[in-house]
Amino acid sequence: MDGETAEEPVPPQGAPCGPGSGGAPALGGRREPKKYAVTDDYQLSKQVLGLGVNGKVLECFHRRTGQKCALKLLYDSPKARQEVDHHWQASGGPHIVRILDVYENMHHSKRCLLIVMECMEGGELFSRIQERGDQAFTEREAAEIMRDIGTAIQFLHSQNIAHRDVKPENLLYTSKEKDAVLKLTDFGFAKETTQNALQTPCYTPYYVAPEVLGPEKYDKSCDMWSLGVIMYILLCGFPPFYSNTGQAISPGMKRRIRLGQYGFPNPEWSEVSEDAKQLIRLLLKTDPTERLTITQFMNHPWINQSMVVPQTPLHTARVLQEDRDHWDEVKEEMTSALATMRVDYDQVQIKDLKTSNNRLLNKRRKKQAGGGSSASQGCNNQ
Ligand SMILES: Nc1ncnc2c1ncn2[C@@H]1O[C@H](COP(=O)(O)OP(=O)(O)O)[C@@H](O)[C@H]1O
Ligand SMILES: [Mg+2]
Repeated sequence: MDGETAEEPVPPQGAPCGPGSGGAPALGGRREPKKYAVTDDYQLSKQVLGLGVNGKVLECFHRRTGQKCALKLLYDSPKARQEVDHHWQASGGPHIVRILDVYENMHHSKRCLLIVMECMEGGELFSRIQERGDQAFTEREAAEIMRDIGTAIQFLHSQNIAHRDVKPENLLYTSKEKDAVLKLTDFGFAKETTQNALQTPCYTPYYVAPEVLGPEKYDKSCDMWSLGVIMYILLCGFPPFYSNTGQAISPGMKRRIRLGQYGFPNPEWSEVSEDAKQLIRLLLKTDPTERLTITQFMNHPWINQSMVVPQTPLHTARVLQEDRDHWDEVKEEMTSALATMRVDYDQVQIKDLKTSNNRLLNKRRKKQAGGGSSASQGCNNQ
């Protein structure tokens, strides 16, 4: 999209022309996919923009306006519905890939959901840095990129959504131009973090243990860990943890992540500011409850005063270029680490609930088990 800025406005919904004008309600509202054929509105091309685990992303063109768009095809399932709902809820937020239309169609006699998005023609974050050649990538630029990704996460967390799959392949640029905007996409693992009735105390007595009040912190802390890994790679070109074995995730790598074993080796890190290293340490804390929250991250001087971050030239572009044969492995490793983390954190949350011996919670559990009219009667804090 032309002339787009970081503070792009939410498009006028229901505008008479152009993609996305299907009368869908604005941000946060409940929306329904269109039931007629996507091909009535869009001309699909054979060009594959991306192949993911869940399906294909194809290039397509809006028939009336000619606008180039991207179409993600998902077979219908509760998981696919969730992806659409979460992405729809986030669409229009800052640095989030915008949804233009959603269709529910039959394809080879299977029900499908088709997400039409703005086409991110600039490609992936690290490809752009790798392609820079001689022009050095600086610490200040890294800080600006981290602020942009942080802005997207801050918006999601404020909407009670944890993305849980923030990684290089899901960070795309709008165009190849200099003023391109970096955006986050792929809500396939996003999770609502609002507490359910059992987790939400009617009152918030001061004696309730923090983990009972905030198990949703685990889901959000996945995103904070991702920010730490991405920031680390931005500053040097290689990841903080790697597997060493060619496996996507080895026992050794898992252990190093768990123990927080990583360093800031020279020469790549010798000129990087202490502020940046400190921020990485706070994001890669092994105990998820100790990691920075997104608000704390956005308030850190390295982010919040990124305009005065030193313009130190980094080794990143060179290292990415030299290690390009290993980049697919780096991506696979991050994918596996996130998958492991999601499972681990889902389990801690269940355990937390089971073992928490909170008087108020137990009373409400009993009440719910006994088919009481509503465990959350009188609770409006959902
Ligand atoms: N809006 C888009 N514009 C251009 N390419 C896209 C777009 N959305 C996704 N892609 C490409 O397709 C890939 C897979 O899409 P994604 O939504 O991440 O699906 P998956 O859930 O399969 O990972 C992305 O990594 C990217 O390369
Ligand atoms: Mg993806």
